[in-house]
Parts: sequence; C-alpha cells; structure tokens
Amino acid sequence: MTPAASGRLYGLGVGPGDPELLTLKALRLLKAADVVAYPTLEGGASFARSIVAEHLSGGQRELAIRVPMTSARAPAQQAYDGAAAEMAEHLEARRDVAVLCEGDPFFYGSFMYLFGRLAERFPVEVVPGVSSLTACAAVLGQPLAARNDTLAVLPAPLSDAVLRARLAEADAAAIIKLGRHYPRIRALIEAEGLTAHARYVERATLPEQRLVPLAEAGAVAAPYFSMILIHRRGEAWRWPHE
Ligand SMILES: C[S@@+](CC[C@H](N)C(=O)[O-])C[C@H]1O[C@@H](n2cnc3c(N)ncnc32)[C@H](O)[C@@H]1O
Repeated sequence: MTPAASGRLYGLGVGPGDPELLTLKALRLLKAADVVAYPTLEGGASFARSIVAEHLSGGQRELAIRVPMTSARAPAQQAYDGAAAEMAEHLEARRDVAVLCEGDPFFYGSFMYLFGRLAERFPVEVVPGVSSLTACAAVLGQPLAARNDTLAVLPAPLSDAVLRARLAEADAAAIIKLGRHYPRIRALIEAEGLTAHARYVERATLPEQRLVPLAEAGAVAAPYFSMILIHRRGEAWRWPHE
C-alpha cells in the first residue's frame, strides 16, 4: 500500500455535553488521532474537550484554538487562520488531526471555518454528533416537529422583525444563542402570544441542566448554552388534538 500523501482532518461531533452521547465512530477516530484540536474561549477551558476528557490518553498532541470573545468577526477569523496553518503543518507531516466539535460540526459549528480553509487541500471526514437541538427536545420530553410541521432554527441575535416574521410562518421553532438576548426574546415571545407554548432549557444533558416552561423561567441570566423550544400548536402530536 502506498503511504497517504497527507494526514486526514476529522471534524468530530462530540454531542451536547453528556459524555455518553458520543458516537462509537467519533470515539474510535478520537483515540486514533495524532493531534486533537478544540476551541477554547480565550484560553478558558474547552467545553468540547471536557466532554471527551476521559478518553484522552495524554499521548496525543493537543492544539487549543483560542477564539476571542467578541461579536466582531475579524479577530475570530484570524484565530481560525492561525489554527488552520498549524493544522496544515501536521497534515502535511501525515499526522491525522481530530477537531472536537460540541454537538454536530455542521450545525452552527465553528468547525466549518476550518473546513472552509483546509478541505480543498486535505482529505476531510465529518462525523455527525448529537446536536443540541435534538438533545433539548429529548430532555424536555417535547417532540420537535411532526408530520408536515415546519421547524425554524432562529439565532437570537437576529432582529425582532426577522424573528417575528420567521416565528409567524413556522409551526415549531428553536431559538438558539440566547445569552444576553434572553430578556428581549422572552418579551418578543410574550408579545406574539406564544409564551404558553415555549419551554426554556439550559445546559441540556449536563448534571446542571435546567428545564422550565418559559412562563416560569423569569428573568434568568441565560447562559450561552441555552435555548427556547416552541410549538405553536402545543402538544400537536397527541391524538386526538384540539
Ligand atoms: C454555535 S451553536 C453550536 C451548536 C452545536 N454545533 C450543536 O450541534 O448543537 C451554540 C448554541 O447551541 C445551543 N446549545 C448547545 N449546547 C447546548 C446545551 N447543552 N443545552 C442547551 N443549548 C445548547 C445554544 O443555543 C448555543 O447558543
């Protein structure tokens, strides 16, 4: 067999937080990788790394991608430029690089910035993970969408006008990236008459997870890892349903 011309880049979905929600495939590739990379928020701990920490042998190289905490795009994109250059060196030296991605890599995952920089030069494999969207529905015991329902995934930083329009046309919605936007989103859902159909979940599948109907959530300081799920027809999957 001719040796591979380069290493392979893997985008490994590691799930929403519970270490048992890691796929067998992600685990196998994680253990076999020469280099394990993961995002950290400006030198802080890496959530993605913490999910798989028990499987890291200590014998692998680790590459922390320090992503600046700012809404401006340029500093983060510079961080991905630097990380991609470092990864390219490993890949050229025929070392496989596994990038850990919270949830699923291609569902609002930052892995796509590395993918965009490296996929034309190196072989890439993306391993899907359990996304926060399905994890939140599962822990809430609330089916996301049924039959011909439409489902909208709405990032909270969108404007009120866009959010209102998208909420009006979808049967079900997930509002992600709440954080500091939470008070505005809660008021908007109330104004749309949807509070009774909305549920709030933070840190789904982790020991500290919190689940409450939005009407009872109050003025919490919502963390970044939180979302609101809405189904405008309530428990529309029940039969018979009024
Ligand atoms: C940048 S997106 C990344 C999504 C991730 N790639 C996935 O597949 O779930 C981050 C958003 O996902 C949601 N999220 C991720 N993990 C979560 C969790 N454990 N509980 C609740 N929401 C979560 C939050 O809304 C957060 O702001």
